[in-house]
Amino acid sequence: MDIQQIKNSALRAWIAKIAALCKPDAIHLCDGSQAEYDGLCNQMVATGTLIRLDPAKRPNSFLARSDPGDVARVEDRTYICSLDKGDAGPMNNWVPPREMKTTLNGLFDGAMRGRMMYVVPFSMGPIGSSIAHIGVQLTDSPYVAVSMRIMTRMGAKVLDALGDGEFVRCLHSVGAPLAPGEADEPWPCNRETKYIVHFPEERQIWSYGSGYGGNALLGKKCFALRIASVLAKEQGWLAEHMLILGVRDPQGERTYVAAAFPSACGKTNFAMMIPPAPFQSEGWDVSTVGDDIAWIKPGPDGRIYAINPEAGFFGVAPGTSEKSNPNAMASIRANTLFTNVALTDDGDVWWEGKTKHPPAHLIDWTGKDWTPASGRPAAHPNARFTAPIEGCPSIDPAYDDPNGVPISAFIFGGRRSTVVPLVYQAFNWAYGVYAAATMGSETTAASAGALGQVRRDPFAMLPFCGYNMADYFNHWLNFGRRLPNPPRVFLVNWFRKDKDGKFLWPGFGENMRILKWIVGRTHGHAMAVESPLGWVPRHGDLDWRGMETYERAQFDEVMSVDRDLWQQEVAAHDSLFARLRSAAQGDDLHPGVDPVCPVALARALGIAV
Ligand code: OXD
Ligand code: MN
Repeated sequence: MDIQQIKNSALRAWIAKIAALCKPDAIHLCDGSQAEYDGLCNQMVATGTLIRLDPAKRPNSFLARSDPGDVARVEDRTYICSLDKGDAGPMNNWVPPREMKTTLNGLFDGAMRGRMMYVVPFSMGPIGSSIAHIGVQLTDSPYVAVSMRIMTRMGAKVLDALGDGEFVRCLHSVGAPLAPGEADEPWPCNRETKYIVHFPEERQIWSYGSGYGGNALLGKKCFALRIASVLAKEQGWLAEHMLILGVRDPQGERTYVAAAFPSACGKTNFAMMIPPAPFQSEGWDVSTVGDDIAWIKPGPDGRIYAINPEAGFFGVAPGTSEKSNPNAMASIRANTLFTNVALTDDGDVWWEGKTKHPPAHLIDWTGKDWTPASGRPAAHPNARFTAPIEGCPSIDPAYDDPNGVPISAFIFGGRRSTVVPLVYQAFNWAYGVYAAATMGSETTAASAGALGQVRRDPFAMLPFCGYNMADYFNHWLNFGRRLPNPPRVFLVNWFRKDKDGKFLWPGFGENMRILKWIVGRTHGHAMAVESPLGWVPRHGDLDWRGMETYERAQFDEVMSVDRDLWQQEVAAHDSLFARLRSAAQGDDLHPGVDPVCPVALARALGIAV
């Protein structure tokens, strides 16, 4: 396809402007066809960016190894450059937009020299859905172009749907211009300089220097969360870091829930859960609408409807196995792009946790020989698979429905080895917003930086909210106020440990027991008792069939609430609000958050404040 054939004149003009700035050797407009995808993959095999896996074992699948310095999202290099600093809020990096544009114009000048610029039109959500939005990414990375074909609806059909309409401008360069005659490295990136920048008012994203995941596949975190969260606030909907799943009961009724857990805390596993055998034989079933992002809009009937804006999974490989997530393993059996996993001697892939015993020899994610005695992981802890959702056996029948699916409950959960019980239900919408806002989680390898430290991650959106977090809390409060019957809100923690560091809850398929209780609560027929934190199930309120060996004492421990620890927890909530309040001081537009919430909770817990 030729650029001149694009009907949208604003898009034609923008492509010309960026081409003049970045100076690529040529421009390729992606049509999204299989032939184009295959051609780009073959080209990357020839240049060493991709390794073709054994076609019998992993048909049409490839391995990429990133630069060792380009392995995760870079939150400290991520900016929200709104016109007003207060609109970015205290949780986002901010630089005045003009100053940032000057920096970026300098960096992007000639950045694509020696390379092709790919024009990638994509729809976040079913094409033509009133919940979906369109973006166009310009990138000098063929790896990104093929990944976008897996992760979004991409190509000529999107341009047809766009017509003369609005689109989000997504500019990306790996930031490593080539000198004349110089060949690309297998994983080009800029080792020193990275910028992931959002201009919310202009609906623009400029990403420089990284080729990895959320830094580079701009439809995902940059558009579908940071820019979309701004659109959602302005237009009265929600753009959230949430999986969406359907639970079918034995009567055939399907209840949809959306759940927010921070990165690498099991959203993919939860979204693809297989219920325990006694539930299955009775007719219970879990189906997957999405594993990472939900766009949710109010419908004409007073209910709220969600779509998964993505078309693929960008899942964490380590820990994924036939035991932990058979549906994910089936999804990645073919047509998958693996990044930073290990290569087996027979041309397949491996990662920590894939099998109980590692193979005797591998090539690790850095390309070096590896044996179990090497004393280092064979796959990077943030190694990923990029796979089309169509390959997932548990795909929900309504996954592609332009109307979305009705959401009956929200679930929020962090990774907490102590303090937070297995499950509780918020007393009401406002309290649910409070509990989600104060959620804490131990940090994981999904983002560059220290691991295992508890940080407040409100709504699992800390790295992804494109505006002031205090305004975001208010948006959630207002959103619920406008609903005649808002979804029920639940808090979960699958990761609680005992004093010896052993997990107190088996998780995975056993989470179905909690999910069944949640679904029962939303329909008003599961029992609960009131506790200081919220409504909780008693032992007898959960379905234990097939898990009779789990002791009552263990359940009591995983549900326990320690008053002293909660006193510290509430103090940590208060410092989150204090941070938001002090940033808002003197700014009438951003009143921050009312301090009453932590005090009220502390009083409910019987803590003197
Ligand atoms: C992701 C993340 O890749 O949250 O989904 O980091
Ligand atoms: Mn995520």
